[in-house]
Amino acid sequence: MLNAAFSGGSTPSFLFKALSNEAKKRGDNLSGVRFFWVDERCVPPDSEESNYNQLNTILFSALKVPEENIFRILGEKIPEKEAVRYSKIMYDTLPLRSGFPVFDLLFLGVGNDGHTASLFPMSRELDEKEKAAVVSVSPQSGRKRITLTLPVICNADRIIFLVTGADKREIVRKLCKHGKGDPSLPASLVRSQTGSIEWYVDSVAWSSWEQDSDVF
Ligand code: 6PG
Repeated sequence: MLNAAFSGGSTPSFLFKALSNEAKKRGDNLSGVRFFWVDERCVPPDSEESNYNQLNTILFSALKVPEENIFRILGEKIPEKEAVRYSKIMYDTLPLRSGFPVFDLLFLGVGNDGHTASLFPMSRELDEKEKAAVVSVSPQSGRKRITLTLPVICNADRIIFLVTGADKREIVRKLCKHGKGDPSLPASLVRSQTGSIEWYVDSVAWSSWEQDSDVF
């Protein structure tokens, strides 16, 4: 069984669509994958903003993915209680390493402000060293979110960043030039315990300038 955690936002929709089309072609309902989330907005599951809703619409309903393999963050519940519940789900379901749950695969995006998951610049959640999931607040919308913490994110066997679009050019440049372990750029704090982080950046978000990166 492959334990995978997915981020939300607009970027991963192309991945979900490609996955859905490929699985349909193979007659595969992805029953070998257990679906978790890196973060979720505190909204009902049928909300346009829900990260679950995006995956459900594009993938789960199309492929009839087994319900028992979908570990949704319950965005409609009391955030603080749901963060505790989801942490327990991860501890009860996933293998552990260094005291934290281990995902086989974990997908991340990057916001224009350098946030990743729902870990925002200079936020206290960046310093969380004990809990596996916490409540954060989006500075843009003021809405609460539930997010995995850095100890869990960094514990994944494979961490994959997906970054596309011209609006990400500036943040990609910043991450290349100044991003090593900078709390004002949370994506730069993601350091794999197993050593491998993969960045997939499309040609529009990338640039031709010298890449003296210490992040990529
Ligand atoms: C979320 C995501 C978030 C996202 C970035 C990039 O719930 O919004 O988990 O971390 O990955 O904000 O979002 P876009 O892909 O929409 O640019």
